[in-house]
Parts: sequence; C-alpha cells; structure tokens
Amino acid sequence: MTEPTTEPARQDRAFTGTSTEPTPAPPFPQDRECPYHPPTGYASLRAQGPLSRVTLFDGRPVWAVTGHALARRLLADPRLSTDRTHPGFPIPAERFTQTRQRRVALLGVDDPEHNAQRRKLIPSFSVKRIAALRPQIQETVDGLLDAMERQGPPSELVADFALPVPSTVICALLGVPYADHAFFEGCSRRLLCGPTASDVDGARIELEEYLGALIDRKRAQPGEGLLDELIHRDHPDGPVGREDLVSFALILLVAGHETTANMISLGTFTLLRHPGQLAALRSGETTTAAVVEELLRFLSIAEGLQRLAAEDIEVGGTTIRKGEGVFFSTSLINRDADVFDHPETLDWDRSARHHLAFGFGVHQCLGQNLARTELDIALRTLFERLPDLRLAVPADEIRHKPGDTIQGLLELPVAW
Ligand code: HEM
Repeated sequence: MTEPTTEPARQDRAFTGTSTEPTPAPPFPQDRECPYHPPTGYASLRAQGPLSRVTLFDGRPVWAVTGHALARRLLADPRLSTDRTHPGFPIPAERFTQTRQRRVALLGVDDPEHNAQRRKLIPSFSVKRIAALRPQIQETVDGLLDAMERQGPPSELVADFALPVPSTVICALLGVPYADHAFFEGCSRRLLCGPTASDVDGARIELEEYLGALIDRKRAQPGEGLLDELIHRDHPDGPVGREDLVSFALILLVAGHETTANMISLGTFTLLRHPGQLAALRSGETTTAAVVEELLRFLSIAEGLQRLAAEDIEVGGTTIRKGEGVFFSTSLINRDADVFDHPETLDWDRSARHHLAFGFGVHQCLGQNLARTELDIALRTLFERLPDLRLAVPADEIRHKPGDTIQGLLELPVAW
C-alpha cells in the first residue's frame, strides 16, 4: 500500500482504504431505507472521500467511487473495462452469477467494438428523432390517464401508468408488438430482480428466444421500427448478425422501459412527499425540464455502475490494481457537496444538468433524450390532469426495490 503524503487532508482520508486496510469495509450495495435517499449505511463511505473499499456479497473487496470529479475521470478511463464476460468481472449479487457469462451489447463491450455498435444506433436516439416522437408519447400518456379516470380511483400507478408509458414507446420505436408486453415486462422484472441465479438466467434465455424469433420474422417480412432498420439498412461495416441483433434488442427493450418506469413511479412518490416543491411545479414557477433534471440527480436510480480494472490505475497515490472491481455509487456521486450545494435538498433552482445519473464517458446512456422526453411529458400531464393526486396508503407501506438493482417502487397505490 502506498500512503499518500502530499495530498490535502480530504484526499488523505479518501485513500486510506487499500487492500491492506485493517478496518472492515462496509457491504455494498445496500438497500435504501427511504426509496429516494442513499442507504444510511453509506455514510462512512461519504466520510472517507471519493474512493474507498467496500465488500461484495461474496466477501470480495472492491472499490467504491463516491466523488463526482473522480467518477468523471474514471468513467472516461479506457483502462476500466465493462466486459462482463471476464471471469473477474464484479457483480452486485449472487443471482447475477450465471448471466455474467453472457454477452451484453454496448454496456458489456469495450472500445473499439463498443464504438462500432453504438454508431449503428446513435441516429435513432438523436435529439431530433426523439423530438419527433413527442406527439406519440403525449398520445400514449393521455390514453393511459383517460383509462385511469374512466376506471376511477384508487389506481396502482406502476401498472396503470409508470410501466405502460415507456413500454408502449420503446415497443413502437423498436418495432416490438406491444401485445406481448406482459411477457417481456415479466422477463425484465425477473432479469433484474429474480430471486435466484437460475431464475435470472432463465428470464434472459426466454427473452433472447422471443427476440430471436421476432427478428427471424422481421427478416422474412420487413416491418417498421429500429430493429427493421438495423436488419434491412446498409451498414458501412456489413450487415448486423443475428446474435448482435438479439443482443441490441434485449438491452434496448429492457433498459428502454425499466429505468424510465422506475423514474416515473419514484419521481411521482418523491413529488407527493415534497408538497412545497410540487406546488412550485403545479403553479408553473419552475419548468418540468428542471424538475426532471433535479429528480434524476436526487433519485439516482441506476446505482452501482460496475467496472473491472484491466490495468493498474494510479489515483492520488493509491493504486487500483489490475483485476480489481470498481463500483460507482451514483447516489453519493450526485450528492457530492463539492459540486451540488445542499445536496440533500430537492431544489428546482439549482443547475443539476451535470449529474451522473446517466453515467459518463463512452457508455453514457444512449436513451437519455428519450428518457427526458418521456419523463417531461408523463410527469407534467399526470399532475395537470390529476391535481388532487395523493398516496392511497401510508408512505411507509409502499415497497421499493432492493439495493442491488435499478431503484424504483414495486407498486404505488394512488387516489385523486
Ligand atoms: C431515466 C431513465 C434512465 C436512466 C436513469 C438510465 C441510466 C443509464 C446509465 C447510468 C447508463 C450507463 C451505465 C454504465 O456506464 O455502466 C446507461 C446506459 C445505457 N442506457 Fe440508459 N438510462 C435510462 C433510460 C434509458 C432508455 C429509455 C434507454 C433506451 C432505449 C436506455 C438505453 C441505454 C443503453 C443502450 C445504455 C448503454 C450505452 C452504452 O454502453 O454505450 N436507457 N443508462
């Protein structure tokens, strides 16, 4: 271990955790006690500075990055790999042991292959292409709220609104039949939250088989959507193979609905728990765009981004050794007091845009324009149409997802 001698005091505290550090490193990830605050068990990490040691479920020590500046630096460092098929790649829970061996497009691939994959998809997610989807997204949101109003309160907002908004939109964008939504939403849920490794892997296999069959049908009979474009468009480096198509479809379908659904449900819950801030949104004192950006920072639903050091990396006198795992705690990074004043406060007036809720560097979220647009339309319209929206059960009865997956609510009973 190399103890830093020349760094300022805050940095000294930051790098005391190394492989020879005697103090037991806290477990990581941990469950949130409150669905919109980082786990209280992370307080010691925050106190240690931007880089510290944590322990995974299997006792393996890994690094946790909790500081904003260091996160930006390391997420842009090509020596940190996202290749999940590497036997040493760190996973947050035992149930991901089997899926780890499987190929994941984009998020599981390093450059230059990653760049070649991403180039094929970027045009479909540009600001212009996503802006053109606004009327369709608005129509989806309006239709779901019409149905909720027809049925009358109470309603379970995850099933009736938060999930079907992004699910309908990603289906239309990809060219996946929405009629199959119960099947693929169920698979995604098991893939991210399934109780055992075989359940998680089984969900993945079922989803791959479903998407493989869909792609075969599209090859025989072209339809509309991004998958059809990928199959039938000419690409400079040749046609996209079936395995890659399935892999693209899987990550886009899962990431395209799960994440945004969690943001809609958790965002709504958070607004209902902050009446002053909600009033500012309702009165038009703030824009929905500012609300969305601050909610992305505050909620940091994609917690614990994972990497593996492919080479030694020096960080302020400490070495992250080749083969060591690194996790990025976005909930702490986005509450770094050096970057965000009063980070525990939900504040529409701050400029939150430089949060890392969508990651940073080459793997930064491909769907962020889409997610922002969906959140903007969904939250604005929900609170406009249902001004008396409220929780239908006490807040502490609302169950949320475990800490080792994308954060969100399991259900959100509401009335109006
Ligand atoms: C609010 C919603 C969302 C959040 C918070 C979110 C968050 C993230 C984060 C943090 C990453 C980087 C992960 C890493 O570096 O390890 C990421 C990557 C990605 N996201 Fe999202 N995401 C959201 C919505 C979406 C949507 C709607 C799509 C849609 C199609 C999408 C597709 C992707 C893809 C394909 C990647 C991998 C990009 C690459 O590796 O080049 N995401 N997302």
